[in-house]
Amino acid sequence: MEKSRTKFVDVMEKAIESANSMHRDELLFPYKGILYPTTICSPEVFQALESFEARSDDVILAGYPKSGTNWLSQILTDLIDISQKKTPGRESSVNAKEVFPYLEAGDADKYERMAKFPSPRFMVTHLRPENLPKSIFKNKVKILLLIRNPKDVATSYYHFSNALAAAPSYETWDDFFTDFMTKKLGFGCYFEYLSEWNKYADQENIMTITYEEVKENPALAVKTIAAFFGIPLTEEELQLVVERCSFQSMKKNSEKTHGAVGNILFRKGGVSDWKNLFTEDQNEKMDKAFEERIGGTKLGKKLKYDLYCKA
Ligand code: A3P
Repeated sequence: MEKSRTKFVDVMEKAIESANSMHRDELLFPYKGILYPTTICSPEVFQALESFEARSDDVILAGYPKSGTNWLSQILTDLIDISQKKTPGRESSVNAKEVFPYLEAGDADKYERMAKFPSPRFMVTHLRPENLPKSIFKNKVKILLLIRNPKDVATSYYHFSNALAAAPSYETWDDFFTDFMTKKLGFGCYFEYLSEWNKYADQENIMTITYEEVKENPALAVKTIAAFFGIPLTEEELQLVVERCSFQSMKKNSEKTHGAVGNILFRKGGVSDWKNLFTEDQNEKMDKAFEERIGGTKLGKKLKYDLYCKA
């Protein structure tokens, strides 16, 4: 097994095990007005996180659940490995891989352990910016903000919720859609997520990338991300990262990297699967909500809604 991901597998297996003895209503808990998965997050961890001391050379990936965070995590950790003269997938030097990479997940002591890690540390977060530790913005940590078209996010989240014991499952897609539109999912409302992050979208330490543009041209995406983090890449290194991050190779390798959850996480890996689920009425509702809440914003335009979300 790739040593780097052992912790991911451990944390997810533990989460699934404890979810099995929980009632559906217990799987999410509210914290400061947003719901979070009980088996992964806790109020104690959120409190400990407030005083987390970020370093200016930390590498952060921010993305709402199901935006492709596991995909971009691999791209970033491979790039960090390359910057440390290590071979991606073989001898990782990314210390954050030794703890569950999601900043808000795990135990409250993890931040003390992270304080001892050498730079650069890598972390992923599903949190909205106002709930991240202040030191991240004060120290101008570079953040890669990953966004995906909302219809595919909802579709991916629906299948994930039904496949993973740690998330509440749904009898019908219609029930899920209603919850998606009314802030009843883990990590809150996607539209609010986008509109909060939009307030930061002009900062020079934040680079926004869409799932769809990485899918369209992975080599260009990897090059742009590497340049943003100041990591020089040879053509050979670029090709290696691109090959390793293809959906096919990540899915094939997923049992080693993500354990039993691998098969759930790496589902279809495409664009427009929403067309298999959305009814006309649901399309209208989401189109309207998007237009009213995000449409005219910088992130809204970046999502190319008409191209990816209109039939
Ligand atoms: P689908 O459910 O639409 O297939 P996250 O990692 O944030 O949970 O996001 C999961 C989504 O990203 C899933 O979408 C998954 O298939 C997709 N994904 C994961 N790795 C990918 C890759 N290498 N290329 C394209 N999509 C990928």
